Amino acid sequence: MFGRCISSYLICGIRGVIVRKMHVAVIGAGVIGLSTALCIHEQYHRTVHPLRIEIYADKFTPLTTSDGAAGLWQPYLYDQGNKQETRWNRETFDYLLKHVHSEEAQPMGIFLQSGYNILKEPAPDPSWRDDVLGFRQLTPRELELFPGYSFGWFNTAIMIEGKNYLPWLTKRLEERGVTFIHRKIKSFSELAREGADVIINCTGVRSGELQPDPDLKPGRGQILKVHAPWMKHFILTHDLKTGVYTTPYIIPGSQMVTLGGIYQLGNWNEENVSEDHKWVWESCCELVPSLKNATIVHDWAGLRPSRSKVRLEREPLACGSSKSELIHNYGHGGFGLTIHWGCAMEAAKLFGQIVDEKKRRSTKSSL
Ligand code: FAD
Ligand code: BEZ
Repeated sequence: MFGRCISSYLICGIRGVIVRKMHVAVIGAGVIGLSTALCIHEQYHRTVHPLRIEIYADKFTPLTTSDGAAGLWQPYLYDQGNKQETRWNRETFDYLLKHVHSEEAQPMGIFLQSGYNILKEPAPDPSWRDDVLGFRQLTPRELELFPGYSFGWFNTAIMIEGKNYLPWLTKRLEERGVTFIHRKIKSFSELAREGADVIINCTGVRSGELQPDPDLKPGRGQILKVHAPWMKHFILTHDLKTGVYTTPYIIPGSQMVTLGGIYQLGNWNEENVSEDHKWVWESCCELVPSLKNATIVHDWAGLRPSRSKVRLEREPLACGSSKSELIHNYGHGGFGLTIHWGCAMEAAKLFGQIVDEKKRRSTKSSL
């Protein structure tokens, strides 16, 4: 555990450089917390010494929202033209693409996956058209596969399956000496009092428990996992005209096919609901009748951390006489896996600013 509100300095013998000892407390062990911790450790373990990172969470893999997600790289229910988010999505795609044929790809749970986005009327190209591979509009023959739909796109994207990716991230962090603490955090100051110099808030949909945020709401989803190994392409439907967000999707994964499409803003219920089960099953079977031969394996309900935009910023935190810094990284809606690495790099950049400021302050005070 951290020392009590003590921020200590190490005087490094080499060329008289003062290196600040840093205690970092990450709250949250979903894809956002784990990837942020890894990115910070990768970038700063040589220049900040010792860099001590601890990850606090009350749920770890396989019990987080990130584990339950379908795992498709696509900015789902998102096209608000936010330039930063579009860039973070792109950076994540490029990062995953670099690994997708590597030896690490299988343990990471990443692989290429192609499929269809279908609509009932023409729509402008999405913000991510140039991020994915081979984006193009559907031909009339392809549209014949989807009665009732008159427009759509085909592309190749990447699957990132949380059930593999989170254990992979955890292993990388353990190898680096990052520690994991099973504990529910009640306030940021609790960690500041225990000596954390930097606290990183990656608590997803429950961030409002630590600091009120009226912009953060649950976007409830419910999915079915089915055994249907003949399904090889994802199919996502959209209803842009009515603005109805609950529309069916089918996403084949490495073991199971995910059927979904429920999006209920403001609903905190984490239990499976039989009406939602019925709607998912019937609407997916209507879309692709061959699914009637699939075996349903299980249901899962989860809450997307929906927000008008991702909250990724610094905030100073006063704790008695000492000061800690907070970095918020939450509110990734239905695209946390899609955007995680771009956000982790941005959080690492903010961390670097804090390191530089503390170094400058300590250099001044030692003069
Ligand atoms: P989480 O995974 O929820 O992790 C939050 C962590 O914070 C947990 O470890 C929790 O224990 C911890 N925590 C919270 N409060 C406290 C506290 N006070 N003290 C201690 N620990 C705390 N995204 C995609 O990109 N692609 C998809 O295909 C996709 N499919 C989805 C399908 C469904 C049905 C749903 C619901 C979501 C889907 N998403 C998808 C969205 C994605 O799951 C989320 O954006 C992502 O999981 C958010 O990650 P996170 O790390 O912020 O949150
Ligand atoms: C979802 O949040 O349900 C989702 C996210 C990305 C791709 C497909 C589905």
